[in-house]
Amino acid sequence: MNDNVMIMEHPLIKHKISLLRDKNTGTGEFRSLVEEIAMLMAFEALRSLPLEEAEIETPIEKCTCPVISGKKLAIVPILRAGLGMVDGILSLVPTAKVGHIGLCRDEETHLPQEYYCKLPGMLEQREIILLDPMLATGGSAAAAVDLIKSHGGKNIKFMCIIAAPEGLKVLSEAHPDIEIYCGNLDRCLNENAYICPGLGDAGDRIFGTK
Ligand code: PRP
Ligand code: URA
Repeated sequence: MNDNVMIMEHPLIKHKISLLRDKNTGTGEFRSLVEEIAMLMAFEALRSLPLEEAEIETPIEKCTCPVISGKKLAIVPILRAGLGMVDGILSLVPTAKVGHIGLCRDEETHLPQEYYCKLPGMLEQREIILLDPMLATGGSAAAAVDLIKSHGGKNIKFMCIIAAPEGLKVLSEAHPDIEIYCGNLDRCLNENAYICPGLGDAGDRIFGTK
């Protein structure tokens, strides 16, 4: 496994992913689980978040303490399903800027079609976390990283809840400079480029469509 790929081992993340997979998990619970998993994964992905010193007065004395230098973080969900991960991360870093990239897979070719892109300014100075619960063929994630880089982004991490080996290979070969955080590495893709065993269509399950 590439050094830039991190697969989550925490039992809470594993348990919540198992609940997500269950076809009987309804929209409300599914949405809450995606948010909680994103928050738990963010503990790992945000280990290198920059700190700055701030003066704090405790009840005893003044001291200089490390605080997150929040202006540097940008999170970028890939629409639609990535939206489900945003609030979990904002609950940890409320000052993060949020960009959006709209991509939709063509049902026949499975290639991503871009329909929206709005990213925060000063991207080259920011730590950027790209979010999408599903890494299937890897086409959407690789295209989103291309877009972020074309807007100046350099320090990029990709966070997904479930990855297929095929997509992990495509993304890490296209962008060897990014870190990839996966909740779980599943078995393979099926003939429709869905992840097996996976959890079905993440966007439909988060938003209650279809
Ligand atoms: C899903 C998923 C990823 C993409 C993964 O989105 O959320 O963005 O497919 O597939 P890939 O790795 O093969 O590119 P989809 O295109 O279905 O759009 P949606 O989120 O709007 O449902
Ligand atoms: N997109 C999804 O939402 N699920 C998959 O299994 C593959 C792509």
